[in-house]
Amino acid sequence: MTAILFVCLGNICRSPLAEGILRHRIRAAGLEHAVSVDSAGTAAWHTGKTPDPRSIAVAARNGIDLTGQRARQVTTADFKTFDIILAMDAANLAELRARAPAGSRAEVRRFLGRDVPDPYYGGPEGFDHVFRMLDEGCVALVAELSERP
Ligand code: 4NP
Repeated sequence: MTAILFVCLGNICRSPLAEGILRHRIRAAGLEHAVSVDSAGTAAWHTGKTPDPRSIAVAARNGIDLTGQRARQVTTADFKTFDIILAMDAANLAELRARAPAGSRAEVRRFLGRDVPDPYYGGPEGFDHVFRMLDEGCVALVAELSERP
């Protein structure tokens, strides 16, 4: 089982969307038995909240339901629980690296190798853009995961 954690700042816009998309694509690929998915934020501001309505809406337009997800903050235990921790941008990555406990074997990297822009303060088109970026990344990630032993 490979456990994957997506991380952004608030865990209401980008990482919940990535979680929903990857879960959807993992199911379509028949890899549910091999991969688990979760998401978290480096900040605790939105703990317990559902994803941003704009993330819920863009996901729904693409056949994905995010309404069961609730925001939470990254914990030290996450570095043990998860095999791969995928940051949305360079700031999230720096936070994760600073918080990783000594001896952590989790693979921590920036999901797309470049920043997924924070759509929180922009308009709804930002969420469509983020959806397309994340979906492309999830297609590539599923291919990578399907080749893992
Ligand atoms: P996220 O977006 O990191 O993609 O969830 C944000 C959500 C909330 C805030 C910033 C970014 N905020 O400042 O509350």
